[in-house]
Formats: sequence, C-alpha cells, structure tokens
Amino acid sequence: MNTRNLLIGPTVFLVAVALIAACNSNVRETTNGGVFTPEIQPLPAQLSTYEAMPVPADNPMTPEKVALGRQLFFDERLSADGSRSCYSCHVCEKGLTDGLPKAIGALNKQLPRSSPTLWNIGYHKEFYWDGRSGSLEKQALAAWTGANMSAKADEIVAKLNALEGYRSQFQKVFQSDATPDNVVKAIGAFERTIISGNTAWDRWKAGDNNAISQSAWRGWNIFQAIKCNNCHDGVLFTDQQYHNVGIGMDQKEPDPGRGKVTNRPEDTGAFKTPTLRDIAKSAPYFHDGSVATLEEAVDIMLAGGKPNQYLDKKNLQPHKILPEQREDLLNFLRSLSVDDCNLTKPPLPQK
Ligand code: HEC
Ligand code: HEC
Repeated sequence: MNTRNLLIGPTVFLVAVALIAACNSNVRETTNGGVFTPEIQPLPAQLSTYEAMPVPADNPMTPEKVALGRQLFFDERLSADGSRSCYSCHVCEKGLTDGLPKAIGALNKQLPRSSPTLWNIGYHKEFYWDGRSGSLEKQALAAWTGANMSAKADEIVAKLNALEGYRSQFQKVFQSDATPDNVVKAIGAFERTIISGNTAWDRWKAGDNNAISQSAWRGWNIFQAIKCNNCHDGVLFTDQQYHNVGIGMDQKEPDPGRGKVTNRPEDTGAFKTPTLRDIAKSAPYFHDGSVATLEEAVDIMLAGGKPNQYLDKKNLQPHKILPEQREDLLNFLRSLSVDDCNLTKPPLPQK
C-alpha cells in the first residue's frame, strides 16, 4: 500500500479536525452514555525530510486502528503482573528508552540488553539489537509474551474481550474480537506513527537557517568528514546493518549479537547501528548500557571503537579531533533531540 496517498490527501482537513478535538480533549468525557469513546487522532502527516513509510499489505493503517494500538501500547494490563506496558521501557523523557543499563521486565525479570529507542521504528526492516525479528508485529508478540511482559496471550485477550470498550473497538477495526494476532497488528500500526520529525536538525534541513547553532552546524560537517555516517547513515542515522564496534567484547562471555542469528563468525559482537535521533536523552548507551554519558560514548567512537578480533575496521577508524570540534560534534548530536515527544497515555477502557 502506498502510504503517501494515505498520508498527504486528507492531512489538512484532518489536522484542523484534530486541533478542534485537541482543544476539547481535556474536558471531553470519554464515555458517552456508558460507551467508551477512544481518542482518535489523524495519521501523521508526511514529513519533508523522510521517505514514505512502507506499510505491510496485511496491516493497513487507519486512525481507528492506530488509536486502539496506542491504548494497548500504554496498557499495563497486557503484562503478566499488570506492572508493565510497552511504554514502561520506551518513555519520552528517556528518548523512548528506559534509562536503565539493562531492562527489567514484568515479574522483575532481568533482561540481557538495554532498551533501544523506538523513534522511526516503522522504517526498520529487522528488529532488536541483533535483528532477529522480521516485522514489528512479530517483535510486538515476542515482547508481549517473552520476558519483557511475560504475558499468556490467550489469557490477556480474554480479559480484553471482557471489556466492552476494547471489544467494540476490535470489532470495528478487525471485525472480530481481540485475538493475539490483531492485538499485535494494532500495536504495530501505532508504532508506525512514532516519527521524530520535530528536531532542530530537521527544521534546519527544511530551510530554517537559525534552527541550529553554528557549533552544531560545524559538528554536522565533522560528523560527515570523519565518516560517522558510514554506519549512522541517512535521515534515520542508521544503515540498519550490523557492526562490531567492540562494546562488551572484553566480558568473560561476550554477547554474540548478530553472530548468534547468522551463525557467521565474522558477525560476532556485531549489533544493529542505533539511530542517533534523540540520543542526548537515551543514556546509558550501547546494547549493554555500559556507558553512562554521551561524551564517553562519542569518545569510544572517536577512538575507533574497542580493539577486538572482529572490530569493523573498514568502516570505523580512529580520529583525533580538537576539544572544540568534539564539543561541536556533541552539539550536533544534541540538535537531534525531539522537542515535543507526543507519546501520551490515552484514556483506557475500564469496562
Ligand atoms: C521490560 C522492558 C520492555 C518492555 C515492557 C518492552 N520492551 Fe521493547 N525492548 C526492550 C529491550 C531490552 C529491547 C532490546 C532487546 C534485544 O535487542 O534483544 C527492546 C526492543 C524493542 C524493539 C526493537 C527496536 C529495534 O531497534 O530493533 C521494538 C520495536 C520494541 N522493543 C517495541 C516494544 C513493544 C511494542 C512492546 C510492548 C508489546 C515492548 N517493546 C515492551 C525492552 C522492553
Ligand atoms: C562501523 C560503523 C559505525 C561507525 C563508523 C560509527 N558508529 Fe556509532 N555505533 C555503531 C554501532 C554498531 C553502535 C552500537 C554498538 C553496540 O551497542 O554494541 C554504535 C553506537 C553509537 C552510539 C551510542 C548509541 C546508543 O543508542 O547507545 C553513539 C552516540 C555513536 N555510536 C556515535 C558515533 C559517532 C559520533 C561516530 C563517528 C565518530 C560513530 N558513532 C561512528 C556503529 C558505528
């Protein structure tokens, strides 16, 4: 399906409707004679710096489906012990991560890796630090029924169907009661709306010369000159490929990363290049959360990564830059911060 058609045509009209709806939303009752009324927003407008997002043919986007997915994404009742929603580990204040070195799931299960950001995740082709999941829908099912949330999908959908507010939305969107399959489809549709358009860097790209400082502008040029974009490429700042930069390779049992997925020795310790969008907020850094500050993370990359047998020396070389150039580079990275994270918890069905 061509998302451009979906996104551009009705945008102006929908934005106007949304503004009116937004003004009233604080006072608006979410029940209408006892019937739950979901908060429905327009699909995001196509942004000039981005390509159209590919949407799977079997899960087209509609405002109603996205609204349902947004509720499910924020609903702690999806986890085994009611303690975790998807949002619990992907929060706005932390750049859509959780601020922990390694995530802690429902039932207090310790997870082996750090929560990655979800900005622009709908553009990705493979998911997780090692790319072991092939679609957003499969990933959502894995997060929901695996250690992140420890849910038994059938038990949870039975609970959702017992809530008329949810059941009626599933009927409307999927012409069926909630099933594990349509739960993850709705969540996937919502995730495709998580786009980091409003950053100083995007405003500068779109023609506002004053949107970023001189220092950030110099930093952007340094970033390209020293080829950080060999891997942090394009407007997503990721090539979506897997590289060994040496993080955690000094551990007794290093995380094999991509190597475990492909069984190719040369992929040992390789991880998906993370996006750098909103990077100033998503500390601690790297797949194991082993680095506390952005300065330290940048210094490791400037040093050409950490030496080990599988280091991607082809794409990553050491660079000596002046302290003021390092500050410029950091200011460029800060210009990728999202100013108005719009992931807010909607009203959820209570009966
Ligand atoms: C307990 C914390 C936690 C919860 C709850 C959680 N996640 Fe995550 N999420 C993580 C961690 C940790 C990873 C990385 C795991 C890995 O790479 O092995 C991750 C990875 C992801 C990714 C892949 C990102 C990428 O760059 O490839 C997506 C998408 C995602 N989560 C969405 C979700 C959705 C949807 C839910 C709810 C169904 C959810 N998460 C619930 C911690 C969490
Ligand atoms: C060889 C490809 C490659 C190059 C070149 C590269 N990076 Fe990275 N970068 C990665 C990968 C892969 C990771 C994640 C590694 C991990 O977690 O094990 C990463 C992680 C990072 C992180 C932490 C991101 C996070 O979410 O935790 C920052 C910041 C970063 N790089 C900045 C830079 C800068 C600045 C440059 C240029 C000096 C650069 N990188 C060059 C591949 C690269």
